[in-house]
Amino acid sequence: MSPIKIGIVGCGNISGIYFKNLCTVFSNVSVKSCADLDPERTAAKVKEYPGVQVCTLEAMLADPEIKIIVNLTTPQGHFPVAMQAVAAGKHVYSEKPLTLTRDQGKTLLAAAAKAGVMVGNAPDTFLGAGIQTCRRLIEDGMIGTPIGAQAFMLCHGHESWHPDPEFYYKVGGGPMFDMGPYYLTALVSLLGPVKRVTGSARISFPQRTITSAKKNGQIIDVEIPTHVTGIMDFASGAIGTITTSFDVWASNTPRIEIFGSEGSLSVPDPNTFGGPVKVKLKGEKEWRDLPLTCGFEANGRGIGPSDMADAIRTGRTHRANGALAYHVLDLMHAFHDASTNGSHVAIESTCKKPELMREGLFDGNW
Ligand SMILES: NC(=O)c1ccc[n+]([C@@H]2O[C@H](COP(=O)([O-])OP(=O)(O)OC[C@H]3O[C@@H](n4cnc5c(N)ncnc54)[C@H](O)[C@@H]3O)[C@@H](O)[C@H]2O)c1
Repeated sequence: MSPIKIGIVGCGNISGIYFKNLCTVFSNVSVKSCADLDPERTAAKVKEYPGVQVCTLEAMLADPEIKIIVNLTTPQGHFPVAMQAVAAGKHVYSEKPLTLTRDQGKTLLAAAAKAGVMVGNAPDTFLGAGIQTCRRLIEDGMIGTPIGAQAFMLCHGHESWHPDPEFYYKVGGGPMFDMGPYYLTALVSLLGPVKRVTGSARISFPQRTITSAKKNGQIIDVEIPTHVTGIMDFASGAIGTITTSFDVWASNTPRIEIFGSEGSLSVPDPNTFGGPVKVKLKGEKEWRDLPLTCGFEANGRGIGPSDMADAIRTGRTHRANGALAYHVLDLMHAFHDASTNGSHVAIESTCKKPELMREGLFDGNW
């Protein structure tokens, strides 16, 4: 079967791994063209991938062969580019977050439903071997009934390495909107949707100094909270906590742990696709490593659009879907709203746990 053709919009930092995987790993898709506001960036991509053409976004949207737009623009670009894609009758898969605001998210999902196209969103790391293995273990009852979960993403921001780090400190950035999607998507796929949250958020450093090479010494005014803690009541009854921070120099906290009535599960870094997966059940003295039971251990970014392509072919729902991404967006806003209002926030949105990946999948083969 011939691959489903993709156009990539946004050829910046993260695009490298998407080009690599969508051009060389996932065989059910192929990249036909790419667009960026910066012509040097598209030129660099087509030099590396001569089979890909440079074009404008308009030309990409007018190309009847292209079925999926992969939107790798900075957060401010996610909504306008996705809306243009949907208006052109294309399926669209964007980087995270889904959109800046809840209203934009609702508008996008409604427009896509009307147009009969799919909306997909990063992250797709939860489709990797690590978190899929955890999901199977929980659903098979290994740790009993989930009681609680904790998640930590603590670092000192991205201005030391990213060439253009300003967007991380503007609306749509911050540790919750930037890194929260990995952790929250993993938690929702493991434990199901959330019904109520509260949270606290602060800006610890009102200005940040870029120390990466290109803009070394430039100052960024911080517009969004950079240390955010949330508490989540899952619909299942489990209670979760999450802290995301760009203000922390050092920490020994785990990434994600799930606490069950029969034992605890250590979930791998949800910004990766592999392990380790560890468990310690009641009565056991040590944590022990468990084997991964699914495919996609290496950096599989792009598996989301590849899954979407398979879903287009087979008529099923794709996993990294708009309802899940909207629920995660809703949670991220709700932590900030709770902090501002000093309250709990009831979560209006919900979603289904995405379908488990099939056992025995190997990289690049559906
Ligand atoms: N850098 C990372 O490690 C990383 C990791 C995971 C996810 N992401 C996410 O990926 C997205 C992009 O991040 P990045 O680091 O690649 O940013 P970047 O600034 O390096 O690249 C973004 C590119 O998009 C282009 N662009 C912006 N608006 C556009 C538009 N309307 N039309 C065409 N091109 C447009 C810019 O010119 C730029 O080349 C963000 O949402 C980010 O959260 C980044």
